[in-house]
Amino acid sequence: MPKIIVLNEQKKEIEVPEGTNLRVALRDAGVEVYSGLEKYLNCRGLGLCGTCAVLVKKGMENLSKKNLRERFHFTFHPKGAFAIIGHEDEMRLSCQCTVHGDVEVEVRPAFNLSGENFWSKPFPFNK
Ligand code: FES
Repeated sequence: MPKIIVLNEQKKEIEVPEGTNLRVALRDAGVEVYSGLEKYLNCRGLGLCGTCAVLVKKGMENLSKKNLRERFHFTFHPKGAFAIIGHEDEMRLSCQCTVHGDVEVEVRPAFNLSGENFWSKPFPFNK
């Protein structure tokens, strides 16, 4: 069975059947996916709010591919489009992906507005 390791929850290990939704697996294991008021103000897994975002540190190839809703969120949603800067290869919406192998994730990633990754990205008009 695939294993999910939650790095910022004392490396908690969760074994799940293949094809399990990542958000459901995390919540069933008692891992807090949301921070602050987002615990109550979220879209309940519909892929609309972006509050369930996680950073996939290992095993991205073992998650389902990004679907249209997830791509739309990280491109056009104000929160998603900024949150993914600097994390293009590792940020996923946990409610939109299924687990097909071992993965290591960080839940509740910090918004990196002042970090070096944010400011190091060239804007299209700076090229
Ligand atoms: S719970 Fe809203 S996008 Fe995942």
